[in-house]
Amino acid sequence: MAGNTFGKLFRVTTAGVSHGPGYLCIVDGCPAGLELSVEDLIPDLQRRKPGQSKLTTQRKEDDAPEIWSGVFEGKTDGTPVGILFRNADQRSGDYSDIADKYRPGHADYTFDAKYGHRDFRGGGRTSARETVSRVAAGAIAKKLLARAGIRVLGYVKQVGEIIADIPDPTAVTLDQVEANPVRCPVPETADRMAKLIDDTRLDRDSIGGIAELVAVGVPPGLGEPVFDKLKADLGKALLSLPAVVGFEYGAGFAVATARGSQNNDVYLPSPIHTATNRHGGMLGGLSSGEPIVCRVAIKPTSSIPRPQVTVTRSGEPTEILVRGRHDPCLLPRFIPMGEAMMALVLVDHWLRNKSARLDPLG
Ligand SMILES: Cc1cc2nc3c(=O)[nH]c(=O)nc-3n(C[C@H](O)[C@H](O)[C@H](O)COP(=O)(O)O)c2cc1C
Repeated sequence: MAGNTFGKLFRVTTAGVSHGPGYLCIVDGCPAGLELSVEDLIPDLQRRKPGQSKLTTQRKEDDAPEIWSGVFEGKTDGTPVGILFRNADQRSGDYSDIADKYRPGHADYTFDAKYGHRDFRGGGRTSARETVSRVAAGAIAKKLLARAGIRVLGYVKQVGEIIADIPDPTAVTLDQVEANPVRCPVPETADRMAKLIDDTRLDRDSIGGIAELVAVGVPPGLGEPVFDKLKADLGKALLSLPAVVGFEYGAGFAVATARGSQNNDVYLPSPIHTATNRHGGMLGGLSSGEPIVCRVAIKPTSSIPRPQVTVTRSGEPTEILVRGRHDPCLLPRFIPMGEAMMALVLVDHWLRNKSARLDPLG
């Protein structure tokens, strides 16, 4: 299986499956000298963790990181940072009656078709539990970015038909996002979203939505103009997260109905900036200095507690009832994952950008 490493200079490799002994994360390319301990990783891991509220799965996972390498006397030492998570609370019995059936909306059939087997105890390598490693790596990336004055924050913009009105995405604070279990910064909208999620759960169903991710303080020029455009890397990073089916930035899909005269963001002087930010902080694949604003559409959780039509491995029609404990809406727990991937892309390009010109190299 290829494709378990992400990034060019700040490279993250993850390994592990949901029902194995645990997960591994190796961050290669983190500069030496960054103060780092498990306490730096815990806040975002807590935000990702299952069992936070009745809006998320009641599965209990410790998500306790152990730093195995790369830190000496409290600081990164320039060697690979190795992080280990031991799996707990594995209830393989929850999955035993689906061993021979494909769950609709999951990677069961596609994985089996590719590898000739699958880990029927859960999603195996395709489980969203894998993101525990990404969130830990993302916390390191965020810490490095903070030194450059770059902040990444995400929040829930939409659940089902309920949309939060957020005129200035850059004004949203972490405290506002964390003030409610939905992670929507508008309290009245968050309450309505929470009710919708709970009603959906009681209806034995699931619901999707949209997450918005914002990076402020990004200097102009991050990204590479051809294949490694910042927008392309952000799109790949976010679409590599489970359940993400759409990515847009700035005005996004709304540009399809706009005129150039409406869509262009005009420049203003001193310092050079744009009057509006329909370009979402990226032009020609490079950051413009304006805030980077992305949105991702997240599908409703595939595991729903009701019978569904499917087939067995040998192709016989059958029914499946997916048991186990699943989030009725993935959005609240997605937020730290989306932030982590955005931070990984930005820190990689921030480091790469340092070799773009000869003069700073001396
Ligand atoms: C935070 C989060 C938690 C998830 N937990 C579950 C879950 O409990 N049950 C489920 O059916 N899907 C869950 N998923 C989604 C599946 O992992 C994903 O839909 C599946 O692997 C198929 O991949 P795809 O949707 O990217 O095509 C979760 C996704 C995220 C982002």
